[in-house]
Amino acid sequence: MSATTPDATPYVLVLYYSRHGATRTLAEQIAAGIESISGVEARLRRVPEISATCEQTEPEIPDSGAMYVELDDLRHCAGLALGSPTRFGNMAAPLKYFLDATSELWMNGALIDKPATAFSASSSLHGGQETTLITMLIPLLHHGMVYAGVPYSATELLETTQGGTPYGTTHVSGKRGDNDVDDNEQRLALAQGKRIARLALAMQPLRETK
Ligand SMILES: Cc1cc2nc3c(=O)[nH]c(=O)nc-3n(C[C@H](O)[C@H](O)[C@H](O)COP(=O)(O)O)c2cc1C
Repeated sequence: MSATTPDATPYVLVLYYSRHGATRTLAEQIAAGIESISGVEARLRRVPEISATCEQTEPEIPDSGAMYVELDDLRHCAGLALGSPTRFGNMAAPLKYFLDATSELWMNGALIDKPATAFSASSSLHGGQETTLITMLIPLLHHGMVYAGVPYSATELLETTQGGTPYGTTHVSGKRGDNDVDDNEQRLALAQGKRIARLALAMQPLRETK
């Protein structure tokens, strides 16, 4: 589906990059949480790979999986859940590359007062998930978005021995990247999806009265 007009059903854009599928699994769980809240939809989109040489690296429409994001998907969203693998404690370049192309939205204040949240996967427990989430939040604040993490009312935060942080859901994929998203990580992603959906609906009137 292409980008919708602002008066269609509000949606939270779940935008991610995932090379090996761990971040995609979290994205799908967050989308399930969003879809469980009535009156708001989840729109799952990803960014394509990038290349150091100036050439098209991917077909315009992917062979499988989520569609590639368009600027209008972000422009018209009621909220945003942004996901990236941890790469050297930071977000992956393809996602940053997309964000760096959003100046027009920034100049027009298109994302001001919209809620945003972030999620990540890393291979190791202390490999920089939290710095990834915190640094992902910075461009969103520049856009005027309101950041929402995961509150400790999600008690899995106190119990997890794998992923899960108050800054956003995470998954520890393991040395070979073959750990399944465990129950705590899954429940936290669901809770995060529900929360961003509720916030997207609650904050909509705030923007309409401007
Ligand atoms: C270039 C690069 C840098 C990475 N840096 C980190 C890191 O700083 N900490 C970590 O724990 N894992 C790191 N990883 C591992 C990925 O975060 C991990 O495999 C993640 O689960 C991949 O997510 P995906 O399956 O969604 O692609 C790195 C992987 C690559 C390719």
